[in-house]
Amino acid sequence: MIKLTPPMGWNSWNTFGSEIDEKLIMETADVMAESGLLECGYDYLVIDDCWSLRKRDENYKLVPDPEKFPHGMKYVADYVHSKGLKFGMYSCDGYKTCAGFPSSYQYEFIDAETFASWGVDYLKYDNCYKPVTVPGKLLYHKMGLALENCGRDIMFSACNWGVENVQEWIKETGAHLWRSTGDIHDNWESIKDLTHQQIALQPYNGLGCFNDMDMLVVGMNGKGNVGFGGCTYDEYRTHFALWCLLNSPLMIGCDIRIMTPETKAILMNKELIAINQDPAGRQPCMLMGSKDGPKEQTYVWYKHLEGGDLAIGLFNMSDNPSYPWVGFEQLGVDHTSGKDLKIRDVMNQRDLGIYHDMFSTGLEPHCCKVFRCTLVPADGNYNISFING
Ligand code: GAL
Repeated sequence: MIKLTPPMGWNSWNTFGSEIDEKLIMETADVMAESGLLECGYDYLVIDDCWSLRKRDENYKLVPDPEKFPHGMKYVADYVHSKGLKFGMYSCDGYKTCAGFPSSYQYEFIDAETFASWGVDYLKYDNCYKPVTVPGKLLYHKMGLALENCGRDIMFSACNWGVENVQEWIKETGAHLWRSTGDIHDNWESIKDLTHQQIALQPYNGLGCFNDMDMLVVGMNGKGNVGFGGCTYDEYRTHFALWCLLNSPLMIGCDIRIMTPETKAILMNKELIAINQDPAGRQPCMLMGSKDGPKEQTYVWYKHLEGGDLAIGLFNMSDNPSYPWVGFEQLGVDHTSGKDLKIRDVMNQRDLGIYHDMFSTGLEPHCCKVFRCTLVPADGNYNISFING
């Protein structure tokens, strides 16, 4: 059974590109299992592009590159599974993968069966070298059907970068997640771009088929395949909190064998992860910000969580401090409700007390705050409305 909340895990592309092999994958599996990442929910280990030979075998099957994977893929999958993890791989709906390796166009059913025979649990399905005359919709349907008939539960991760109005047809193909934007880069411009592009696509996001804002760059610190400049830790915090609040899959892209304490703290914030993995999977509503506004705006989103709590995220994407406020009337918690909000700072895991009617707060440039709010009876005891710190 494939879970309905956004997938979490690790993917080789952001840091390693074509520099992948069995040793890296097995070491990464060890770290996922032993560092606390698996316990936080990161359970899919995914090999991206560049894992195969340049030619299929005589039975038209894909062949793992024996120099990179000398024991074959079943061996790697078995090792990954032995650590309590799930195993993911990559292919593409065109003639070649983006890096020029054989791809699944017209081999969909053979490839789905091959992946199943190796013990694959997740397939990232890219869109390079797609024949221009064939609609992407047909090709994603075809692979969706092939996976559903391969005899194994395989999570279907569609990756067509948001083209061909994919949001309108992707759910029907059986995809469990779909890339809603182009490729992420490890810098603040890219975080701003992807967030801004996501606003218009939010209504399509939902339980069982999530908008994928691309793999995380947290902890890359400017190194690796997409490490174009790097971000500060404040920016990585904001990036991670945005992906959590907006229900994006959380696929780590850094080298987890050398995570710094800051990187670990960001990736393992269990209270933020709980907001991402909320079983209700509801979309956040926007209180401040607009798809027509600049990328450098302050966004405020709130999200209904299972059980009645609200998550509120405030994100300052600009280069100047900002001072957003949240009126509880906008949340449906006005004076007729008889309720106040008990607020917890999720980024720093501390209780802030009870607030009445509204709060305002300050945000440094590129910084964010995320609160988890519980409705409590209004009894006249509450804090003044500015949230410091
Ligand atoms: C891109 C895709 C990336 C990565 C790369 C591999 O199309 O968006 O996430 O998979 O191909 O070549």
